[in-house]
Amino acid sequence: MITVKDVRKSYDKSSEIIKGVSFHVEKGMIYGLLGPNGAGKTTLMQIIATLSKPSSGTVTICGLSPETDLLEIHKKIGFLTTEIKLDPLSSPNKLFDFFAELYDIPSGEVENLKKTSFERFGIEPFADKKIIELSTGMKQKVSIAISLIHNPPVIIFDEPTNGLDILTSKQVTDYLLELRENGHAIILSTHIFSVAEQLCDEIGILVDGNIVASGSVSELIELTGTDSFEKAFFDLYVKNHKE
Ligand SMILES: Nc1ncnc2c1ncn2[C@@H]1O[C@H](COP(=O)(O)OP(=O)(O)OP(=O)(O)O)[C@@H](O)[C@H]1O
Ligand SMILES: [Mg+2]
Repeated sequence: MITVKDVRKSYDKSSEIIKGVSFHVEKGMIYGLLGPNGAGKTTLMQIIATLSKPSSGTVTICGLSPETDLLEIHKKIGFLTTEIKLDPLSSPNKLFDFFAELYDIPSGEVENLKKTSFERFGIEPFADKKIIELSTGMKQKVSIAISLIHNPPVIIFDEPTNGLDILTSKQVTDYLLELRENGHAIILSTHIFSVAEQLCDEIGILVDGNIVASGSVSELIELTGTDSFEKAFFDLYVKNHKE
């Protein structure tokens, strides 16, 4: 579903931010990117979501290349980042309708889709409030509802539980597990070890623009000869980070 091949990215000649990253994400799989601040997770996810071009290397989504099939790819991707800003004066209702139109959802289906989505995330009581009046968690839930309006097979979420309380965070992680169950291919980044441990089938540890190790939580623990995922992460970071 998602193939990333030797992707590199530089913003200027002196420094390379992504230094040759490759991996593959199958249907029904959650791939996690874990790495310290500035490791390049957001940059890499923006490239995979075709919002930024790699300096070299390729990304294919469902066998399609952004060079030739950009519009088709956009229909297949749901992208969510903490940097997405919802129009502060709009409302969940208006935004949902706007994006439904953008993604050509047949008008007869929009109300039902909205009802299911808003019910799932408890958005209904806030549906007509201004975005500016909503809490961080509610804004995040509205962002998720909107970014998945077109039921995309490929989902790319940059820190999906960032800033959420434990209850809202659980709603989001349960939803991601359900999407995996339904055969979506998911890439997420997170700083929260328990989220990575609970959700990810495979994790790529990104340090200074390189995936320095990848595998399941137990494989990474075994690889490093440690006894917890946190220790495995620190071990890989210390061994691979250059000052
Ligand atoms: N538009 C840009 N121009 C120049 N440098 C950039 C740009 N965007 C990001 N960078 C640099 O790329 C590096 C990686 O940033 P990125 O945001 O991808 O890291 P991250 O792993 O997502 O970090 P965090 O965990 O803090 O979100 C940083 O050194 C950052 O300063
Ligand atoms: Mg980031």
